[in-house]
Amino acid sequence: MAINADEFKAALASWASGITIITARAGERIHGMTVSDFSGASLAPPLALVCAAKTSNTTAMIQEGGCFGVNVLRVGQQALSNRFASKKDEWTRFEGVETFAAKTGAPLLADALVNLDCRLVAVHDAGDHLLCVGEIEQVNIRDGEPLLYFRGSYGRFLKDV
Ligand SMILES: Cc1cc2nc3c(=O)[nH]c(=O)nc-3n(C[C@H](O)[C@H](O)[C@H](O)COP(=O)(O)O)c2cc1C
Repeated sequence: MAINADEFKAALASWASGITIITARAGERIHGMTVSDFSGASLAPPLALVCAAKTSNTTAMIQEGGCFGVNVLRVGQQALSNRFASKKDEWTRFEGVETFAAKTGAPLLADALVNLDCRLVAVHDAGDHLLCVGEIEQVNIRDGEPLLYFRGSYGRFLKDV
């Protein structure tokens, strides 16, 4: 018998992760959401993987536009993470946020620690989520410290423990 939702949440909350904002473009419309379930998936070809809820507007736009941006957040960008996760701010998430378009046209955050510009190459069903696989067409890497997430709290990387 499968585990229940509380067990799942408690176990997965103990997996410390970085935080990304996944962005999408379809025509003139842009959108994005906070995502911790991101991973590199393949080196050759270079693929990135995002676990995106089927109910999310961003997920729908990724499928419609055929591309997505991965923006790895830095320390100090907690408010951005909360804003891109909140339904209250859903249609004002990009207000005051500088973006630029790379090859695919997905909006990339100018002040992120890392940008990955991805062309959607596969979508796999995974229960209430979709696994969106993108070929990475361009990267930007900037100096700085990553924003981390563990058991519902933000934190920073501690070197040499
Ligand atoms: C720390 C954090 C991590 C999250 N990780 C994911 C994730 O990996 N996948 C996902 O689909 N939603 C994730 N969410 C939830 C979405 O950000 C949230 O549901 C958002 O409102 C969806 O917006 P949309 O429907 O406008 O796309 C996360 C939220 C937070 C605060």
